[in-house]
Amino acid sequence: MKDFDEYLKMVNDAIATMKLPDTPAGLYDPIKYTLDCGGKRLRPVLALAACQAMGKEPMTAIHQAIAIEVFHNFTLLHDDVMDKADIRRGRPTVHRKWNEETAILSGDAMLTTSSMLLAIKCGEHLASAFDLFNGTAMNVYEGQQFDMDFEKRSDVTVEEYMEMIRLKTSVLLGCACGMGALMADASFESQLTFFNYGVNLGLAFQLQDDYLDTYGDPKTFGKAIGGDILNDKKTWLLITALKEDTTGTVRGLIGNNISPEEKIVRVRGIYDGLNLPDRIHELIGAYIDSAISCLDQLEIMPEARAFFIDLALKSATRNK
Ligand code: IPE
Ligand code: IPE
Ligand code: MG
Ligand code: MG
Ligand code: MG
Repeated sequence: MKDFDEYLKMVNDAIATMKLPDTPAGLYDPIKYTLDCGGKRLRPVLALAACQAMGKEPMTAIHQAIAIEVFHNFTLLHDDVMDKADIRRGRPTVHRKWNEETAILSGDAMLTTSSMLLAIKCGEHLASAFDLFNGTAMNVYEGQQFDMDFEKRSDVTVEEYMEMIRLKTSVLLGCACGMGALMADASFESQLTFFNYGVNLGLAFQLQDDYLDTYGDPKTFGKAIGGDILNDKKTWLLITALKEDTTGTVRGLIGNNISPEEKIVRVRGIYDGLNLPDRIHELIGAYIDSAISCLDQLEIMPEARAFFIDLALKSATRNK
């Protein structure tokens, strides 16, 4: 096994050598801007590491790994329009730097680019790879629709929230792990177990993203803080506060037209009073444990096991 930074370098090198046309610049510049902007590259690293853990050279899965990363970046362009987000990875979002039309069309081109990448050197796995990838993509769109629908409701349950984040975020991490295993010719059972590791990791990952959206340091996190509160996103934090705050104070703040700064401070104050930061980390810990226990069902080398345990533990405490 290699370490995270070695896989990261393979991913970044492959993205840097991707040939995108120069014209029309209005279509391709925003794509280059987005892909050059970094990001943690968690999903493609998972794919390469899963491929190696299952006994093949990590580069066997490089095209499929960057296909998933380009797809992920496409979802961010559209997500930032939907969430009215101005900053990502410490820079203006595409719809702010250009406009919404650009975010839509460059996003579309990224989706097609990701399909083209997925097919490269896919060999006998082509049909299975597309089944996994397309099924995952449909889940992401479903999750994003639930996310939007939930903004308008105040009776969303924790179960509904967990299903929404499984769809919008977790299956893509699962897909990355499963894709790596598929490209390594692993059995269907091993692919599925790796997929389940990624799904549990993804649930913890989105819970931590929601925590950081309220409690993160904007410089490190790279996104504006408080966007979820301003959009009335039904995160675990808000759902729990709505359930436990019997005075109705939280309900009164939803959709309220007090200033954005005041709304963020007041909602965060309620979360603090209910000890939600500690409690969300207990929940995150439980999903990290579930991810790690999936590894017990895999016949992988101790160093591969250690890699995936370490990555899961780091995701639970990440600050960016
Ligand atoms: C952001 O994903 C969207 C979520 C699913 C929370 P990442 O946090 O992986 O974003 P980058 O690619 O590292 O910027
Ligand atoms: C992102 O959820 C899920 C997808 C992009 C599909 P968020 O809306 O919380 O992601 P960020 O916080 O904007 O990165
Ligand atoms: Mg968003
Ligand atoms: Mg969103
Ligand atoms: Mg978020």
